[in-house]
Amino acid sequence: MIDIKPDFKTLKPYSVVKQDVWHYNSKVKIKIDWNEEFLVNKKVEENLIDFIRSSKYALYPDVSSIDLNIALSKYHNINHNNIMTFNGSDEALDVICRSYIEKNNIVVFRNPEYGNFITFAETSLAKIEYFYDKDPFVLDENSFKMHIEKFKPRLVYISNPNNPTGVLYNFSFLKDMIVSNPNSLFIIDEAYIDFIEKTGYGESIDEMIHFSTKVNNVIVVRTFSKLYSLAGLRIGYIVTNNEIINDLSLLRKGKNVSMLSQIAAKTAIESKDFYNEKLEIIREQKKNVINKCSNLSYVDNCYDSSANFICLRINDKVFNRLKTYLYDNGVYIRDRSSIYQLDNIIRVSIIDDMSLFIHYMDEFEKLIKNI
Ligand SMILES: Cc1ncc(COP(=O)(O)O)c(C=O)c1O
Repeated sequence: MIDIKPDFKTLKPYSVVKQDVWHYNSKVKIKIDWNEEFLVNKKVEENLIDFIRSSKYALYPDVSSIDLNIALSKYHNINHNNIMTFNGSDEALDVICRSYIEKNNIVVFRNPEYGNFITFAETSLAKIEYFYDKDPFVLDENSFKMHIEKFKPRLVYISNPNNPTGVLYNFSFLKDMIVSNPNSLFIIDEAYIDFIEKTGYGESIDEMIHFSTKVNNVIVVRTFSKLYSLAGLRIGYIVTNNEIINDLSLLRKGKNVSMLSQIAAKTAIESKDFYNEKLEIIREQKKNVINKCSNLSYVDNCYDSSANFICLRINDKVFNRLKTYLYDNGVYIRDRSSIYQLDNIIRVSIIDDMSLFIHYMDEFEKLIKNI
């Protein structure tokens, strides 16, 4: 028997959602547990089919993903040398941790943070110094900044908007922290940035991307898994300065970014109008869900969010019953209540049709009133 590394013995893997959507007897009717979107872009499908028919899947992929990088560089108006693609943004996050974190280096998060990144930092043997706001749904900028100045971390990770709270950090606040802490590497994970409303962030949603090419301590991370509905194809990218791109090429595995992923992502980024239209529908659905849920007697709090998900604080007395009721009726949501400060919280992704979710939330109200 070979033991796992002693440092890994007490660590726990990232907890994933129910996987039964892949099994023949799955109950799922609406999957709103992993912040995926389900938008069908016909052009993406056609280009994928053309590629499969060409039989070029026999070849290893273009390891530099140059066509995609050029499409992204036009889209963001930056040099393609500032972009690097990965097999999902998770892979980028893992490579970043393994490239820059040494044992006992300090990494700062504001609680709660994206669980998978926490695992990457833990398995890089970082020493994690959490920052806790009194209310995780309300950011106290000053205290967070002071926390970073106190710990002088090697790395700060911020999902912006935050997963799971949906809290948005404003660009000028982040820029100020980045400039004042030149020895800390800031990872700004913008998986959900497409969903933010036009106000409250900065001039444009690409401000951090542009800034990251000019300084040497920021990496912006983006993904095609959310708005672009390509989670299963595993494609994400980073934008940063050239030295960091060079550093990361040591551990990046270029062969991991398949041609199917590259083709789908390039097609998606070149059909932005399609996604913009759908974005409006998703935003409307979010408002609608918040309106409805705020009026339910068993929902103690319904938190608006800048992302494609919202958190609901469910009355303690019915929390477990609601969860079971939703699962039994094929409504798959994410229980976040095991996270510190998120007691009785469920997270619900917002997709382009939330009617089934609203229906079962209403039905549950009737059910508990009849008891
Ligand atoms: C903040 C954040 N970053 C990254 C990811 C993972 O994205 P990808 O599918 O590109 O690995 C997620 C997925 O939920 C996320 O919430």
